Amino acid sequence: MTRVFSGVKPTGHLTLGNYLGAMRRWVAVDQHRSDALFCVVDLHALTVDHDPARVRRLSRQAASLLLATGLDPELCTVFVQSHVDEHARLSYLLECVATDGEMRRMIQYKEKAPRERSRGGSVRLSLLTYPVLMAADILAYGTDEVPVGDDQTQHVELARDLAVRFNQRYGHTFVVPRATSPGSAARVMNLQDPASKMGKSDDAGPGIVYLLDEPDVVRRKVMRAVTDSGSDVVYDREERPGLANLLEILAACTGGDPAELAGGYDSYGALKKDTAEAVVEVLRPVQERHKELCADPGYVDGVLREGAGKARAAARPTVDAAYRAIGLLPPV
Ligand code: TYM
Repeated sequence: MTRVFSGVKPTGHLTLGNYLGAMRRWVAVDQHRSDALFCVVDLHALTVDHDPARVRRLSRQAASLLLATGLDPELCTVFVQSHVDEHARLSYLLECVATDGEMRRMIQYKEKAPRERSRGGSVRLSLLTYPVLMAADILAYGTDEVPVGDDQTQHVELARDLAVRFNQRYGHTFVVPRATSPGSAARVMNLQDPASKMGKSDDAGPGIVYLLDEPDVVRRKVMRAVTDSGSDVVYDREERPGLANLLEILAACTGGDPAELAGGYDSYGALKKDTAEAVVEVLRPVQERHKELCADPGYVDGVLREGAGKARAAARPTVDAAYRAIGLLPPV
């Protein structure tokens, strides 16, 4: 059976971008057709300046939201990265096959490191090695497919490269994974700045729709979205990125096609109104289920406990094999 692995990082409240770009497909497709693991990657949240209590809170919230979107613990494994030691164990071995040059070429590092410096801080070494830990997440489970939004494809490519390199040097140990894309909504853009991704770690702003935003907040954010000059409604990502983003969000929420949907509108106002309502309707069941789960923390704890046990059992044989292959003396 195909093994699928993916994760979300608890560095902020989860967004419509996370949902349309990744999580929705995990629920609708991946958990049904594969042996899938979905992980709250809390170790990755420590790569930038962080508040420990906030990371803990966001990790719990992310786990509840994974379940609220419809991941079913009977069908897949939901767990927290730091509960399974194999991620950190394997990450170190992969640091021994990755190079510093590779790390410095990663787009996210090049974007995030200057941001950290400009906030007056220094850059954590773990930000540089972030993609190695991510490769460990993927390779530990013999993963075939990694369903992610567009912004993560370079990281999955690195995991592929490291798997191939390790296998060539030390003998076949890892499955070589590949990224799978959601098709539509692979990159949901910020409503106030359609040149940049709708990212949860960005400062809270009117351009980001969070999964737990109240309906009226969603409506306000969508109605105030930046559109482009011009008044006709056409789908053109290059020339009219703000409009294209709204059409893509509407298409992803209603199952339509952005270019075809454009033909049905002659004003921005009507498009925004329909997009806002479509988003509200997509988020409604997730928010309702999340509320129920918040009232039942014991259930979420149980899912995470069981998930960690299953994940540990799935990862250990591969990670132990990697320890032997690279030349470490087995414990006596
Ligand atoms: P993270 O937490 O930033 O995002 C989780 C998933 O949501 C997708 N995504 C988006 N898709 C479309 N439009 C957007 N605006 C948008 N924002 C986020 C991301 O592509 C991702 O699929 N490094 C990863 C977490 C990670 C991981 C892994 C993923 C760690 N280890 C192993 C897969 C496999 C991250 O920061 O995702």
